[in-house]
Amino acid sequence: PKRIWFSRHGESQFNLEDKIGGDADLSPRGQMYADALPELIEKHLGDRPLTVWTSSMKRTIQTARHLQYPKKHWKALDELNTGVCDGMTYQEIEEQYPEDFARRDEDKFNYRYRGGESYRDLVLRLEPVIMELERHENILIIAHQATIRCMYAYFMNLEHDELPYARIPLHTVIELVPRAYGCEEKFYKVNI
Ligand code: F6P
Repeated sequence: PKRIWFSRHGESQFNLEDKIGGDADLSPRGQMYADALPELIEKHLGDRPLTVWTSSMKRTIQTARHLQYPKKHWKALDELNTGVCDGMTYQEIEEQYPEDFARRDEDKFNYRYRGGESYRDLVLRLEPVIMELERHENILIIAHQATIRCMYAYFMNLEHDELPYARIPLHTVIELVPRAYGCEEKFYKVNI
C-alpha cells in the first residue's frame, strides 16, 4: 500500500519566539531536523519512489533541502493566514484583540482572523492538494501545523471541532497507510 507522510517544518526562529505566521528561517535546531530527515525517510521508504511537497515558505523549503527526490512547492500548503495577527504572540493577541481571542477559543474551526483565514477556509484551499494526494503514490508533505491538521483530519475522519486541536508535534514524521477501514498511523519522533 502507498504511504503518506506529513511533517511540519523544523523549528523556526518564530517558533522560538512564540510568534505566529511570518516567513522565518529555520533555527539551528530546525536545521538539525532537516539534516536528520533523509535518513529517517530512507529507513521507512525502502526502494519505493517518493515525491516531496512543500509549501512556498522558506521554513518548509529549508526543511526539504537535503532530500534528493522530485519536489513540488504548493502555495496552497502555506500556513493559515492570520491577517492582522501575523507576527504576534498569543499573549499579544489576547491583549490587543481580547474579543477575537475569546471567539477563537469558542469556535476555533470557524473563527476567521481579521484580514486572514479560518480553518474552514483552509479546508477549502487544500481541496486540490488532497485530490492530487489521493491519486498519487508515496508522498512526503512538509508543511505547517494548521495545514497538516486539515489533511490529517481528512484521512483520519476527524470532526470539525476536533480538527483544530489535532496534535501535530514538531520534529515528528507522521505516517499514514490507507486501509479499507481507515488509515493506520505512526509517529516517528526525531530526538534533537
Ligand atoms: O505557531 C506555529 C503556527 O504554525 C502558526 O504560524 C499558526 O498560526 C499556528 O501554528 C496554528 O495553530 P493554532 O491554530 O493552534 O493557533
